[in-house]
Amino acid sequence: MMNHSDAHDASSTPLPRTPLCDMLDCRLPLILAGMGGVARSELVAAVSEAGGFGFLGMVREPLALIDREVRAVRDHTAARFGVNLIPAGTPAELLDQQVQCCVDLQVPVVGLFWDVNYAVIARLKAANITVVHQVGSVAQALQAQSAGVDALIVQGVEAGGHVSGRQPLEALLAAVLAVVDVPVAAAGGISTGEQVAQLMTQGAQAAVLGTALLATQESFAHDFHKQRVVQARADDTVLTEDFHINWPAHAAVRVLRNSVTQGQLGDPFTQARRAIGEEEGRPIYLFSTDSPLRSMSGDFESMALYAGRGVDAIDSIPTAAQRMASIMQSAQTHWRTLHRPEVEVSSPVCYAPAFERERNEALMAQLNELLEAERAGVRVTVQTLAQVSDPATRQLMEAIHHDEVQWCVMLLHAVRDMGGTTSQRTGAFFQKAMAIENVAERLAFLNRGQGWVAKRVAELLERVEDPALHKNLTRMLDSHKDNLTKVNEHLALK
Ligand SMILES: Cc1cc2nc3c(=O)[nH]c(=O)nc-3n(C[C@H](O)[C@H](O)[C@H](O)COP(=O)(O)O)c2cc1C
Repeated sequence: MMNHSDAHDASSTPLPRTPLCDMLDCRLPLILAGMGGVARSELVAAVSEAGGFGFLGMVREPLALIDREVRAVRDHTAARFGVNLIPAGTPAELLDQQVQCCVDLQVPVVGLFWDVNYAVIARLKAANITVVHQVGSVAQALQAQSAGVDALIVQGVEAGGHVSGRQPLEALLAAVLAVVDVPVAAAGGISTGEQVAQLMTQGAQAAVLGTALLATQESFAHDFHKQRVVQARADDTVLTEDFHINWPAHAAVRVLRNSVTQGQLGDPFTQARRAIGEEEGRPIYLFSTDSPLRSMSGDFESMALYAGRGVDAIDSIPTAAQRMASIMQSAQTHWRTLHRPEVEVSSPVCYAPAFERERNEALMAQLNELLEAERAGVRVTVQTLAQVSDPATRQLMEAIHHDEVQWCVMLLHAVRDMGGTTSQRTGAFFQKAMAIENVAERLAFLNRGQGWVAKRVAELLERVEDPALHKNLTRMLDSHKDNLTKVNEHLALK
């Protein structure tokens, strides 16, 4: 079933073994998303055996199935694995039993999603279970961290299945990395090694694969679903609330466009329940969140065909090990390019005269210094927002926070485009700012920091020749000047 030589190739990757890989005890920084229905024992075992980490998708599943699947994984592999649960999408009594079942079975890791449930997290932690929480916003990341989770998965809006936030993965990852201390993995639309290398360069400690591993031989998705994923392009996916039965209201999912999303089957919120399929005697309702599984029959076209925006690069249904090996092989190549030693002759920069190379190095160091400063700004604004109730101050802090995240992402791209490695540090400014207890005084200090950044950007602009970078830095300077004025005006009114 498994192609061990492919998996072995992948293990020679120079991608670093991250603290998150140590925590989960996997060789490769690839995590199988806990896809409900789809990520069953066969897929989890295949991913683990190939060196990744797998979550069983057990949302709303009965205890007997969880018990059976956990045992089946253990029969196939000695590797660590996890169980995914969704507290907000599960009736309270069943959730209570599911948590107890994970504790009793000594499941090593539990992955959670949607609303942060403090009680469930505390119970799992008390049983020594490692808890990983998927989040879709900075606020949720901070909530999950304060609830005591061991690691986070940041989910970008590109993701298939239920989508919690609305920010693109890169921007959300930058914002979350700036404010949390626990390891962070990235999810949403990831299907290539290039994405894995770039996200890890940005600071993600692993990539989470959903759709890319749904379209494999071991996944429990029905062939109909796998084939549709293979045929689809990113723009065939849509975010919709049409598939809602079984879930909290107003939960968006990313699916492939079909008769439901195109409105051909009527209003999903006013019709009486109508079965369009069945699974071992259980009716599958139109507009429910069930996706076509191997164990189902019925009108698959009208079901929720979950898929992320990474479908463009998915054009076959290989084994999980083959898909992971090809992603890792390409991640390795891109990682080498992004982190090449200075002496490597393949570097285009190396063909350039020495002075030009030095100038590029100096520029990248300055951009990284700005990145660290902006990251500190993101962190200060988030933590200050938690202490501020005055609407005008909040509005100002939120606007500054938004800008600083935007400049972090711009700087990340700029360093990356020059072939450099992005700094993962946060400027010392953060500690200094947070040591100031009075919010108005901290805001004044933040403004001095913004003033320092504006001065450095203005100096840099005199030396930057690349027109695109020049334009972006000019926008960054203008936005800092704007914010400086706004904060000064705000403080004068106080
Ligand atoms: C078919 C499918 C089912 C999913 N079910 C769950 C689930 O039960 N629990 C969960 O935490 N996430 C679930 N997700 C979301 C994933 O955790 C993850 O965010 C997503 O798959 C990442 O995007 P990608 O599919 O583009 O790789 C599901 C995703 C898909 C595609």
